[in-house]
Amino acid sequence: MGSSFHSTCSSWTKVVLFSLSLLGLCSATAIEVSYDQTAFIINGERRVILSGAVHFPRSTEKMWPQILQKAKDSGLDAIETYVFWDRHEPVKGKYDFKKNLNFVKFFKLVQEHGLYGIIRIGPYVCAEWNFGGLPLWLHKIPGIQVRTDNEPWKKEMQTFVTKIVTMCKEANLFASQGGPIILAQIENEYGNIMSGYGDAGKQYVKWCAEMALAQNIGVPWIMCQQNDAPSTVIQTCNGFYCDSFQPNGNNPKNPKVFTENWVGWFQKWGEKLPHRTAEDVAYSVARFFQNGGVLNNYYMFHGGTNFERTAGGPYITTSYDYDAPLNEYGTLNQPKYGHLKQLHAAIKSGEKIITSATRTETSVGNSVNLTTYTSSNGGKFCYLSNTDGSQDATVDLPNGGGKFFVPAWSVSILENCSKEIYNTAKVNTQTSLMVKKVDASSAHLTWEWMAENIEDTLSGKGTSTENLLLEQKDFTLDASDYLWYMTTVNINDTSSWQNATLQVVTMGHALYAYVNKNLVGSQFSQTGGNFTFEKPVSLTEGTNIITLLSVTVGLPNYGAKYDLIDTGIVDGPVKLIGKNSVSMDLTNNSWSYKTGLNGEAQRLRKGVWKSGSSNNLPVGKGMTWYKAKFNVPSGTDPVVLDLQGMGKGEAWVNGHGIGRYWPLNVAGSDGCSQTCDYRGAYQSSKCTYNCGNPTQRWYHVPRQYFSNKENILVLFEEVGGNPQNISFQTVSVGTVCANAYEGANLELSCEGGKMSKVEFASFGNPQGQCGSFQKGSSDASTSMSVVEKACAGKPACTLAVTKETFGAQQISGASGNSNTTNINRLAVQIAC
Ligand code: GAL
Repeated sequence: MGSSFHSTCSSWTKVVLFSLSLLGLCSATAIEVSYDQTAFIINGERRVILSGAVHFPRSTEKMWPQILQKAKDSGLDAIETYVFWDRHEPVKGKYDFKKNLNFVKFFKLVQEHGLYGIIRIGPYVCAEWNFGGLPLWLHKIPGIQVRTDNEPWKKEMQTFVTKIVTMCKEANLFASQGGPIILAQIENEYGNIMSGYGDAGKQYVKWCAEMALAQNIGVPWIMCQQNDAPSTVIQTCNGFYCDSFQPNGNNPKNPKVFTENWVGWFQKWGEKLPHRTAEDVAYSVARFFQNGGVLNNYYMFHGGTNFERTAGGPYITTSYDYDAPLNEYGTLNQPKYGHLKQLHAAIKSGEKIITSATRTETSVGNSVNLTTYTSSNGGKFCYLSNTDGSQDATVDLPNGGGKFFVPAWSVSILENCSKEIYNTAKVNTQTSLMVKKVDASSAHLTWEWMAENIEDTLSGKGTSTENLLLEQKDFTLDASDYLWYMTTVNINDTSSWQNATLQVVTMGHALYAYVNKNLVGSQFSQTGGNFTFEKPVSLTEGTNIITLLSVTVGLPNYGAKYDLIDTGIVDGPVKLIGKNSVSMDLTNNSWSYKTGLNGEAQRLRKGVWKSGSSNNLPVGKGMTWYKAKFNVPSGTDPVVLDLQGMGKGEAWVNGHGIGRYWPLNVAGSDGCSQTCDYRGAYQSSKCTYNCGNPTQRWYHVPRQYFSNKENILVLFEEVGGNPQNISFQTVSVGTVCANAYEGANLELSCEGGKMSKVEFASFGNPQGQCGSFQKGSSDASTSMSVVEKACAGKPACTLAVTKETFGAQQISGASGNSNTTNINRLAVQIAC
């Protein structure tokens, strides 16, 4: 079968086996992983691999089993995750692998669920994760330049990679030890930005591969988006489509691997909500396998939540839902989940053939291509694609293969090259419309409050002093979003400074300015970049105190030398501009510094909370802490916190950071899509939603964070907001819709609840969409009664979408092979 990589425990001599077993790399159940151009070969079996990304710190340990089970149920073979260096080693040499950072436990669960694992160690990960996953303390190492051929960096990187690999080995996590992990990644998309590092970048790539290989893990290493990847690793592709990806040829056995098939996109504060259709994701996957793909990994399968301050930046939102097949809360994002599940089954039905076959391509019309896999024993499996963005096609396959209708921008999968078992544009799965319900027991919150005590910083008192304006993250080491810069100015001649302006040039992301203890203004960068703040100030004779609070909203995670992008008021200038444009440059004044808020530092143990009637509740007041006891919403549905009315800040439930909130930041008001055409190449600004609404209004509170004793919500409100409308809500399926083609087996489920009322059912040629379905010219009169009988009052039901089911012989349309346009459909809408 010819693999270029052999598992460490394959057919080697006893001597080698003995020495490897000393390294902990062999066990009785070792799984051999190798590959060639058309398959991964796992214990001798030729496989195509369907994988999905689930980042363990973006959910909680108690959520993992359900997420993994749903991944398994959808037909995935593997789960992929990065590891997150900044969280695992927040302080140099002090490691944290507890709770939802316990990646060993995560991979053990992966295996228990019958799944393989792919570990992307990085240790740079991008991932819209704070600072791309690198710990801030790296910058304090003398002479360090990260992600390049630099000794101090390579030493730190190797130490961390070795630490992770050693932990994997100790827990027998590699397939070569009988564990789940079949692949490991070193670095991440370095090729995209390598030119920014010159020749040193090329050297670094070689070093990465050598260092990784020397870890001796017994399974192959991959490098993504690395055109010059050496022959010792597998070179892979990331994007919305990777069907035309061709490995560089350095490694002749390099299988075609799609490490990141972006199923949607991430969101930034102020931006609209991205949506990638189920049809287009399925199209991308099917095109990839049609063109010889061997492994497809969904990025993300479950996106989850950027808890605490883990969101990258600038300006990545707290939700990392990603429009993934499992939504932020771990429940099914339908129809995406179901449509891909059916795709997986269709692809897997051809696995034996496509991994040991010759592949031929035939053009059967404009933009319509037939790919035929023929195995040595004569088995056949075909993909029939129409890559045109608007023209549907009906084609006659050569050699009497039959007539097929292929909608624009779709791929059909043909069993035995003669029967359509799947088409990426025909969605035969339910759409779930989610509802949020205010839980009666937690509807009303009684608040206590406390002003953040900023007397010290308003008086100019910091913890250290410098005669210059410092870079923010280098000073704070990102211990907080907040850095206070304070200085004093002596004014003798008040007449020249009567109507003065304070000018601050900052690298962002936000700024509050106080003069003599009074707030003179604040400013937020539109997208997280630099800006100039200018506000009139009133100065008094003698000493004036200038207090500037600089705020970051997630540190950058992408780009060549992204780690060197400045934040805060570094170098300023900060100026006072007086009469006749006379200016006083304060840049090299003596500046006092203080990281963070007092409330943050004291974790609110100190301080006197105030309470009283809602008339006294501070509204619209910045720098305010709020606290409320609450009852846990009943049931098992996921819980969100509705923070509508609040400005910007951070939230904690029983001490667990549920992330930054910023409902005040509203998504752009135009460019949202009423309808979304799946046809044509997707990019992240196509099909966006949520125009003119808060970028993120609801914040996930995992049930694991609740206590059966007392539950406390704490908010730090930075800008000023009104907490009176805050409520805990549960999220569940409110309505189930479908518009399935004749021949389909339609599965419907309220995912927990029961189907209470069939609101619409029509078998024939129904029109419209969920929420506005209408009967068409043909409609089986039995439609309602059949669906009611099968589904009403039940948590789930399955309907065979056939004429027989609806006793509708009089309904016209093709049956079975769904190869014409005028096929019958069943549209249903059911309330849960
Ligand atoms: C890739 C990167 C991922 C993620 C993705 C966008 O460039 O490798 O980590 O950031 O983009 O979501």
